[in-house]
Amino acid sequence: MKLPLLYLLCSIKSAVGSPLSTSTAISSADFNSLLQGANFAAAAYCDSNTKAGSKSVTCTGTGSDICPQASGATILGTFSNSGAVGYVARSGNNIVVAFQGSKSGKQFLDDFNVFQTPVDFWCSGCQVMGAFLNDWEVVSTGIIATIKQALVGHANSPILVLGHSLGAGVATFAAVDIQGNFTSSPVTLLSYASPRLGNQAWADWYTANGPKISKIYRVTHHKDEVPQIPHKSSYNSVWRHFGPEYYITKEDLSPAQSDIVMLAEQESDLGIDGKPGNITNHLNDPTEHRNYMIHLSGNTGC
Ligand SMILES: *[C@@H]1O[C@H](CO)[C@@H](O)[C@H](O)[C@H]1NC(C)=O
Ligand SMILES: *[C@@H]1O[C@H](CO)[C@@H](O)[C@H](O)[C@H]1NC(C)=O
Repeated sequence: MKLPLLYLLCSIKSAVGSPLSTSTAISSADFNSLLQGANFAAAAYCDSNTKAGSKSVTCTGTGSDICPQASGATILGTFSNSGAVGYVARSGNNIVVAFQGSKSGKQFLDDFNVFQTPVDFWCSGCQVMGAFLNDWEVVSTGIIATIKQALVGHANSPILVLGHSLGAGVATFAAVDIQGNFTSSPVTLLSYASPRLGNQAWADWYTANGPKISKIYRVTHHKDEVPQIPHKSSYNSVWRHFGPEYYITKEDLSPAQSDIVMLAEQESDLGIDGKPGNITNHLNDPTEHRNYMIHLSGNTGC
């Protein structure tokens, strides 16, 4: 008798933390997706890839290639408008839309404008972080047009929408509209180190895949504080993550496939053991925030 595959996949249970998190091993395909996405997210921090006229992705600012899986991808367009900075590229059959995160702690705090705004056009009663949504809305028309152009002669190309930190937040909203506009292209969202982005109704909608995005990865790392902000109840609002969560358990680089688990629930409360994130701690030591699969820069660009 063959063992059901599910049995093999569900063999890891976390021993600590309350409530108990049910964690599942990830596949090698998941691992490869997370690694490839991190390479493209790292490339979004390099000014050479986001300035107008850039032709192909390069990641050699400090001498060595920090994101080899992104290097050489053809840049189809760049954008730069307040919180939304990044590029659209073609890499093999994929179209990549990559959003840069904040380059400094000060920029992060400036961007981190924690008011909620209703998004009833997405789901009834839903509210999201207004500043990040606005970041997406100011560049959305240009990005949608660039993708449309890129699909000419390459109908149904998969689209990867990704970013780190602030960039993950903007990507999470962008993925909704991009999948909505291009229903025959499978969209993959790769969100690394995102803060909480919306209220319970919005998190429930995203968890139930209301936006019908083909594949959603929300990645967190060890004790990175940023996924623990805004606090669950703060700024006169309720803030929740959507599930599942892909949690990198290993502190230092580079994680192996077995160092990453999928946690099914919306809020795993692992990380800093469910405590609210402390932005001062984070700014004092952002190492774990910067290390997602590879070193995603932020301070120094490439
Ligand atoms: C297409 O994208 C635009 C943003 O440019 C958005 O306003 C619109 O709702 C999207 N359409 C669909 C069907 O999702
Ligand atoms: C946040 O961390 C700093 C040290 O990095 C500490 O001084 C401060 O008390 C902490 N704040 C809270 C609310 O725990």
